[in-house]
Amino acid sequence: MTDDAAWWRSAVIYQVYIRSFADADGDGTGDVAGLHSRLDHLAELGVDAIWINPWYPSPLNDAGYDVSDYRALDPRFGTLDGAAALIAAAHERGLRVVLDIVPNHTSSEHPWFRDALAGRHRDRYVFRDSGDEPPNDWKAMFGGPAWTRVPDGQWYLHLFDVTQPDLNWQNPEVRADFEETLRFWFDRGVDGFRIDVANSLVKEDGLPDVGERGQHDPGPHPHWDRDEVHDIYREWRRIADSYDPPRVFVAEAWVPEADRFARYLRPDELHTAFNFDFLKAPWLAPALRTSIERTLREHAAVGAPPTWVLSNHDVARHVSRLARDPRARIDSSLDSLLGVPADLELGTRRARAAALLIFALPGGAYVYQGDELGLPEVEDLPEEVLDDPTWQRSGHTERGRDGCRVPIPWAGDAPPFGFGPEGTKPWLPQPAWFSGYTAEREAADPGSMLALYRRALRLRRELPALGDGPLTWLDVPEGALGFAREPGFALLLNLDAEPFAPPAGAEVVLVSGPLTDDGLVPRDTAVWLTNR
Ligand code: GLC
Repeated sequence: MTDDAAWWRSAVIYQVYIRSFADADGDGTGDVAGLHSRLDHLAELGVDAIWINPWYPSPLNDAGYDVSDYRALDPRFGTLDGAAALIAAAHERGLRVVLDIVPNHTSSEHPWFRDALAGRHRDRYVFRDSGDEPPNDWKAMFGGPAWTRVPDGQWYLHLFDVTQPDLNWQNPEVRADFEETLRFWFDRGVDGFRIDVANSLVKEDGLPDVGERGQHDPGPHPHWDRDEVHDIYREWRRIADSYDPPRVFVAEAWVPEADRFARYLRPDELHTAFNFDFLKAPWLAPALRTSIERTLREHAAVGAPPTWVLSNHDVARHVSRLARDPRARIDSSLDSLLGVPADLELGTRRARAAALLIFALPGGAYVYQGDELGLPEVEDLPEEVLDDPTWQRSGHTERGRDGCRVPIPWAGDAPPFGFGPEGTKPWLPQPAWFSGYTAEREAADPGSMLALYRRALRLRRELPALGDGPLTWLDVPEGALGFAREPGFALLLNLDAEPFAPPAGAEVVLVSGPLTDDGLVPRDTAVWLTNR
């Protein structure tokens, strides 16, 4: 591991969805011991850090984003000792460890909420008297009203599932408790936190109606992106900076306005944030360029490095999104893809090019487990296994996010594909076609997505131009993108231009797919060039 305190400015961070990564004890759910046993895969891949989705005790009503104890592990995932061993083993391999903190809400099983239901300390949550009607018109993200009534007649707020009551961040006890949680994990060597829905937490006094305002509409909103939330992060930053080496934060903040988004990344607040604008941009040169320029501009304004992300546990896998016509009316959800014709070979070709794009752009990048295998979305999970609260709360009209959460295929020709010991029944069923995507098979195939990721990440470490720093746009045909990074690096990406020639004299060091016979860059292909 480098001693470089600014590691996060260029880091490639691998997202471990622990429930689906590797299952050592064969109960069908991934665990810390499974992750520990697969650390070499990650070290060989060449990432700098791992971010682990919530592993805390939880009824798993929202896959662990419903936490009942922030300073322990769910027994299904492991123990505190196992976590300590994992952190040490990751550090030995040069991998930093980032955990996930969920400050907007707890689980309804959290002792605080149990107390609240029993009538004690309700001011840790958002309870209101309001007769027979909910206190306002707020909607829950998974569908239905954001309020639920308890037997004694009061209502409590839950912006997500009914089992995820929102905390009251006006209460100093809530603030103190989260600070203690940060210290608890930092003291155990954790290098940073991903902050779940970092732009909620604070609600407007008086809890006024939302009315017609959407989450992504400009202008003030009663429960998204309130100014006061920044005081919380300034305090958290002070805590992170009090450690040696300083600990870091990445915000999950779906904030549409560039200047509002950048406020989370001011020098005394959070270090980085996920770039969802880029994730959602269609595979068209002007759209990608606009998103990249906007990203660079907004981050430069506060001196923060951008990050680039193609997939995560909340969106349909990008191979499957890119398999669709970029002009089709789709968004990042599986539900928007269903019924739109897909060409997975094309999606894979584009995903290879997209990987070379994100690893060449300034700043850091995220890899969601399975991206490196080129895994497509599982679009046809049987309805009876769907677990995402979206499915229930939408009255079975939206399938939700399970299709990107299917356990990883490691090896072999049949389920559980090395996810767990022989006989393991993974918590979501793996399709037979996963046999074509196992890590074992791809490791043996120089043309695989895994081989491409390994080569790209090795080169990224070798080439001083990559990582944090500026870029200069190059003149390329319409329908293509090209930029240079100093010293001596260039990326060309052809989305839908006629095949074109790389500049004379440059050396091609990596391609996402074959060039034409006369050395031109064809459609849906990216090329890394050096000029040394
Ligand atoms: C974030 C998580 C998502 C979760 C939600 C509620 O968006 O990424 O998985 O459902 O927060 O905690």
